[in-house]
Amino acid sequence: MFLYTGLRKSVGQRRSSNDTESIPSRDRLEMCHAVNAFFVELPHRKEPQINTIKETQKAWSGVFTEGTDKRVETFTESISFDRRLYEVDIRASIAHARMLSDVKILTAEEFRQLEEALLAIRLEIEEGNFEYKIELEDIHMHIEHALIEKIGDVGRKLHTARSRNDQVVTDLRLWVRDAIDRIDRCLLDVQSAFVGRCDADFDVILPGYTHLQRAQPVLAPHYWLAYCEKFQRDRERLGDCRKRVNILGLGSAALAGTSLPIDRTKTAEYLGFERIAANSLDATSDRDFIRETAFCLVEIALHLSTFAEEWILWSTAEFNFLRLPQTFCTGSSIMPQKVNPDVLELIRGKTARVSSSLHSLIMLTKGLPLAYNRDLQEDKLPIFDAFDTVEAALSLAAPLIEGAVLQKESIQSRLELGYLDATVLMEYLIQKGVPQRTAHGIVGRLVRTAMESDVPLASLPLNVFQEIHDGFDDKVFTVLGAKNAVVAMKSYGSTAPSEVRKQIDDWKEKIGREQAVV
Ligand code: ARG
Repeated sequence: MFLYTGLRKSVGQRRSSNDTESIPSRDRLEMCHAVNAFFVELPHRKEPQINTIKETQKAWSGVFTEGTDKRVETFTESISFDRRLYEVDIRASIAHARMLSDVKILTAEEFRQLEEALLAIRLEIEEGNFEYKIELEDIHMHIEHALIEKIGDVGRKLHTARSRNDQVVTDLRLWVRDAIDRIDRCLLDVQSAFVGRCDADFDVILPGYTHLQRAQPVLAPHYWLAYCEKFQRDRERLGDCRKRVNILGLGSAALAGTSLPIDRTKTAEYLGFERIAANSLDATSDRDFIRETAFCLVEIALHLSTFAEEWILWSTAEFNFLRLPQTFCTGSSIMPQKVNPDVLELIRGKTARVSSSLHSLIMLTKGLPLAYNRDLQEDKLPIFDAFDTVEAALSLAAPLIEGAVLQKESIQSRLELGYLDATVLMEYLIQKGVPQRTAHGIVGRLVRTAMESDVPLASLPLNVFQEIHDGFDDKVFTVLGAKNAVVAMKSYGSTAPSEVRKQIDDWKEKIGREQAVV
């Protein structure tokens, strides 16, 4: 809708695709779809309307005696997707120029002009007044070209002690760092949505499953906090990965560093990088941080997928454990009665995309010799797509979790099916000194007896228990039934109400603290 302006003048368009990072999260979903639409419209598939520049204006045209074949320009361009880096590119350029003026390679006045012009370019891009030209290849060349058009020779000085090779890796690191922080916030929102349900759902006991067969009773908040734990590991994993993202590559130049007296500690400080890459060959070829980030995103997608699958099942007539908010469901074009969990299905389904992004990155970088190779230009599409997909899924998961309604009566009406209390009954015998294997056999026989009459264990008379084992007395009924079985739990991390209560309190405290900070 707005994005095809990519290769044309985009005056009057509502937004460009580039300002992903600066727009409110509500708008981001819409953006993700538009960005995806844009990928379908890559210029090699559709002839773009473009403006042209003279061959001699190309930054690298000096050695060439012939112009570039138009098909090559179309094939090698990345502006259709790396324009999203515009903000970080400008941020990094200002920091680079500031450092160049610190070390007196630029004068203070030159730095002032560069900064002013770069900020003006940023505004033009954000307001949709920036012109994209396919022969300028990528966002870096576009911004530099615009800079030179604005301030001439001073603009020609910006690329001092810098190459696109260290520039692109720096931009990418800044972009990924910001995106990680957004995903972390989304994960916190999902955790908060689960924790926010815990008090109201505290008295609900659900069947817990193994092999998708009824196993033992579990408090509903125990389920909710299980997901909080998974997403907490995802956040910790991202946080750890962020340390390896947050490293300055700039100053490595093309591959070997520079003979100019730059000060990389200054650039790192201006850009908030914690460390400086210590080897210029490594710095310009390193894409570990992209693969690692993609893996972190795959983990999040996998956790979301498990959650989605579970809630899809729970919302069926067969389970009838919960009702999904209608605003997050869609209908059928032929069956008038259908209310389908499409959002959850797509959260599950889009895991494939995120996973294939990681695979693309692995294949892309497999066997590349040091240092920079143009293949690396292709790293952006998968990592952008993985972030967009996971961010969209998390943004929908949070309100869906908040809005779902547990079907308490339906759950309760079938809770005693499946002998969920059998394991606790076995443990009751163990506490009376019966060896575990013997107790297992005794309870197995009692369950078989109960099954034959199609009744729960609690409905068997005491004499049936005593016929099978003479250690039983009427206290046995204090552990039978789903509720008693839950209350009988004691171990740390179990579904015992006292344990779960402590966990809820801890989570509330932790989330409240983090929400206050962010
Ligand atoms: N568009 C390129 C990329 O994303 C920028 C680096 C180009 N470097 C080069 N030596 N051609 O990787």
